[in-house]
Amino acid sequence: MKDLYVHPTTDALCTGAARWFLRRLAAAQAAGRTPHVALTGGSLADPFHREVRLGAPEAGVDLTRVHWWWGDERFVAGGSEERNDISAMAELLGPAGVPDSHVHRVPSSDATESVESAAALYTDALATHGVDGFEVVVLGLGPDGHVASLFPGRHQVSDTTLGAVAVHDSPKPPPLRVSLTLPVLNSARSVLFIAAGSGKSAAVAAAHQPGPALDCPARAVRGRVETGWFLDEGAASELGT
Ligand code: 6PG
Repeated sequence: MKDLYVHPTTDALCTGAARWFLRRLAAAQAAGRTPHVALTGGSLADPFHREVRLGAPEAGVDLTRVHWWWGDERFVAGGSEERNDISAMAELLGPAGVPDSHVHRVPSSDATESVESAAALYTDALATHGVDGFEVVVLGLGPDGHVASLFPGRHQVSDTTLGAVAVHDSPKPPPLRVSLTLPVLNSARSVLFIAAGSGKSAAVAAAHQPGPALDCPARAVRGRVETGWFLDEGAASELGT
């Protein structure tokens, strides 16, 4: 099931997406599960993380009883502003007091010798924690239809392993990255897309059309139960055309 929500502003988009995300976490915790989620990078990450932190009390979600992962990460030094985990730590996990045992960062370039090693270690961590399906995976969307660090035309899109893969020469800087594979993204109960701006309208439209995943990786991602698309009017402007 694909749910589409179009908002007039980026702030409204992120607030709505955060509430959708929190409702799923509340349901999981009410059912006695400790949810594992995967966060995203990108320009909407900061406002989304802030809205999750602010909305958690009203949603009845204990953020410290969630395991936090990332759909992709840049292979740069730990603490670098380029890392996706920096935003989440600053806007959400730090202020919420999430224990470090529940924060699963991708190994950084100053902690392991290669991006391949980082991908292998992340894959091992997923197995160690028995993550056989995320509760929610949050994904931004690139203008070319990439999700996480799975880029059109790249072999990682077709990787069927249940883990993380190394990315070299990423078309989006920085060049070295680690990404979860499509099978892992699709193991999620719920997938939440967030995208804003008319620059994403073609990718949003392509993601809603049939065709090869290699051309538009976003079109190959869907949750086992549901997929929510939170867009602003610019990003939604080519839908239904
Ligand atoms: C990353 C992200 C990436 C991002 C999209 C959208 O590491 O860069 O995970 O997948 O979500 O590129 O980013 P923008 O919203 O900034 O366009």
